[in-house]
Amino acid sequence: MKEFRLQPKILFGEDSLSYLRELNYKRVLIVTDAVMVQLKLTDFIVNNLPASSEIKIFSEVEPNPSMQTVEKGAQDFIAFDPDCVIALGGGSPIDACKAILYFAYKIYKKLNINRRVFFVAVPTTSGTGSEVTSYSVITDGDRKIALADNLMLPNVALLNTEFLKGLPSKVVADTGMDVLTHSIEAYVSNIANPFSSSFAMKSIKLIFENLVTHYNDRTIPTPRENVQFASCLAGIAFDNSSLGINHSIAHTIGAKFHIAHGRANAIIMPYIIEINSHADKKYYEISKELGLPADTIEEGKASLLSFIKILKEKLGIEKSLKDYGVEFEDFRKELTNMLKDIKKDICTSHNPNRLSDEEYIRLLLRIYYGE
Ligand SMILES: NC(=O)c1ccc[n+]([C@@H]2O[C@H](COP(=O)([O-])OP(=O)(O)OC[C@H]3O[C@@H](n4cnc5c(N)ncnc54)[C@H](O)[C@@H]3O)[C@@H](O)[C@H]2O)c1
Ligand SMILES: [Fe+2]
Repeated sequence: MKEFRLQPKILFGEDSLSYLRELNYKRVLIVTDAVMVQLKLTDFIVNNLPASSEIKIFSEVEPNPSMQTVEKGAQDFIAFDPDCVIALGGGSPIDACKAILYFAYKIYKKLNINRRVFFVAVPTTSGTGSEVTSYSVITDGDRKIALADNLMLPNVALLNTEFLKGLPSKVVADTGMDVLTHSIEAYVSNIANPFSSSFAMKSIKLIFENLVTHYNDRTIPTPRENVQFASCLAGIAFDNSSLGINHSIAHTIGAKFHIAHGRANAIIMPYIIEINSHADKKYYEISKELGLPADTIEEGKASLLSFIKILKEKLGIEKSLKDYGVEFEDFRKELTNMLKDIKKDICTSHNPNRLSDEEYIRLLLRIYYGE
């Protein structure tokens, strides 16, 4: 039996934050990062919650959240004992919040306490789609670990474009390319189905039509909103169909060489598409849908690759790890460890092509040199 799941409830539109006024909870924990507090984006949440709620803000989440932060957050969670949790931020605070819940529930279980809190996720990047997925990516030393559990699915994903107006252009480029990686990997996954593929294709189209305009001017409402929709649609798609080795490799090199998740995905994307020969027909279908030259399967795949290379240039994304500034000696030393981590990553199993160790090493060297 196969399943396509649609959860959580998604609220969106200009007045979506008014939903917070209906949340009648005694204690509300907000999990976020220091930038959200500095930019006063937390005020949009606090000012809309009922005055009767006691509010605590945990703002210690760093980009690529660490196990230590999650442990600290879980301690604060148990001490404060909230009945509602709101994650506000990019993928880092949302994922940290999910992992805090995951570990806090484990502790409750050991104490024979059967308790779940109401969980609202408010994304401020477009983005990881984490507001609609059961995944959380946590960094443990120089490794990224992807957790997957329905316990971490939010009850409500609250979208509002108000948060996105002050995004730095680099974050728009990185997170927008993360969206495109999600939707393409979901579309070509070997467990894709017609439901996940329709969400993935719509997301790809929205990125194709809106990302560069949004990157160049974050104040224009329609592209800003469309990229947010694309992010959420891609999240729904990959939560149901899984991802592939673009993500496994991005997790590995991101953690080892401290590269933002979306940028790591974007640097390696063309090399992954080239090697995934079992998905050639699907890459062609994407090009056809986008109106790119696609008279044959080969032409369709080549058009998609050209589009992605041009998009990367427009967004100022490096062609290779060498261009990004990774030293070859550092890269060479990590090759064996990287291979191990990539093969273990949960995203690897549903990639269209299965690679041998030798193919992985050759691929990693191409990603390094950009050839
Ligand atoms: N759970 C999932 O399914 C999933 C999927 C992909 C990636 N991830 C993980 O998500 C994390 C990356 O998340 P991200 O790419 O959203 O970045 P992020 O949350 O790390 O944020 C990047 C930077 O942008 C800042 N920022 C965020 N929103 C802003 C706003 N509205 N205005 C100004 N600055 C803002 C943050 O403070 C931070 O400095 C990584 O750990 C990655 O592995 C998770
Ligand atoms: Fe991602």
